[in-house]
Amino acid sequence: MGRKFFVGGNWKCNGTTEEVKKIVNVLNEGQVPSQDVVEVVISPPFVFLPLVKSLLKPDFHVAAQNCWVKKGGAFTGEVSLFNSKFKFDVSCLCSAEMLVNLGIPWVILGHSERRLILNESNEFVGDKVKYALSQGIKVIACVGETLEQRESGSTVDVVAAQTKAISERVSDWSNIVLAYEPVWAIGTGKVATPAQAQEVHSELRKWLHANTSPEVAETTRIIYGGISFYLSFVLLLFILNLIMAARIKINIIHYMYIPKAADGDSCGKHRKYKIADISFSCMFLYMYLFLIAFGIPVSGSVNGANCKELAAQPDVDGFLVGGASLKPEFIDIIKSAE
Ligand code: G3H
Repeated sequence: MGRKFFVGGNWKCNGTTEEVKKIVNVLNEGQVPSQDVVEVVISPPFVFLPLVKSLLKPDFHVAAQNCWVKKGGAFTGEVSLFNSKFKFDVSCLCSAEMLVNLGIPWVILGHSERRLILNESNEFVGDKVKYALSQGIKVIACVGETLEQRESGSTVDVVAAQTKAISERVSDWSNIVLAYEPVWAIGTGKVATPAQAQEVHSELRKWLHANTSPEVAETTRIIYGGISFYLSFVLLLFILNLIMAARIKINIIHYMYIPKAADGDSCGKHRKYKIADISFSCMFLYMYLFLIAFGIPVSGSVNGANCKELAAQPDVDGFLVGGASLKPEFIDIIKSAE
């Protein structure tokens, strides 16, 4: 049986009660493929988990954005810091048991923002994955390299080490979805192509094949969580606009010095050429304004415009979407499963 397409919507730390209701409404109304074709999991901030769960249609499931590495207890509130004594960050807003109690079936663990900002180590993430699974919570486990790691050629080693820390602690992969998030492609202007995404996904699958089992490699879904076509495109347009602005200025100055057309001379023709030249130069400005005005995503992430091409890659089994999961275009991303 093929791998069912998986689309996760990670709302990160966004939303008010009113906004949550609006987004859920859009999700509930959206015409999307059936559950046989795509599994959709929405991950709101902790405080909205019960609300989202109660409002969302049952076709869609809910995930927490993190959970504690062991049983809850005397850990007051959210304390997120690198603890030099215990060598891990303390973050216990929510335990796996609480998720079970709330009927939340999924959790995102090892997200790059936690690995980078909160110093979550591979081992700590592996421990969390193990504990969540032991409590019956399914896991979206994130892996991904930084720009420095990519440029030093260690992408595969880095994602393999992150995956190894999970595989050393877990033997049953049936409740894990692996999310590849190249950290360097999130909001940096660096370009990751679908081919680059496919390359890393394929390497991850090979790693699973060699280090777990052919069956795990074949059945584990590897989803994609970050890309930056449009950001770089907009930056390119911005630079072109700077060049064109200089050209427009020069052309306007020249235009002012061309005498008006007189019968029988070529001045009228020259004036027309100058006008055409100025209009052409403005074209890039119009394109730039169009991209901004119509909100075509520039965040460097999976969005309604690039999802189809990514989804077509043989080893891309879905997405973990951030910003675009808060917008109606998330429906288009879900539809890319078809
Ligand atoms: O969890 C999602 C990834 O961090 C991508 O987020 O789509 O806002 O860039 P983004």
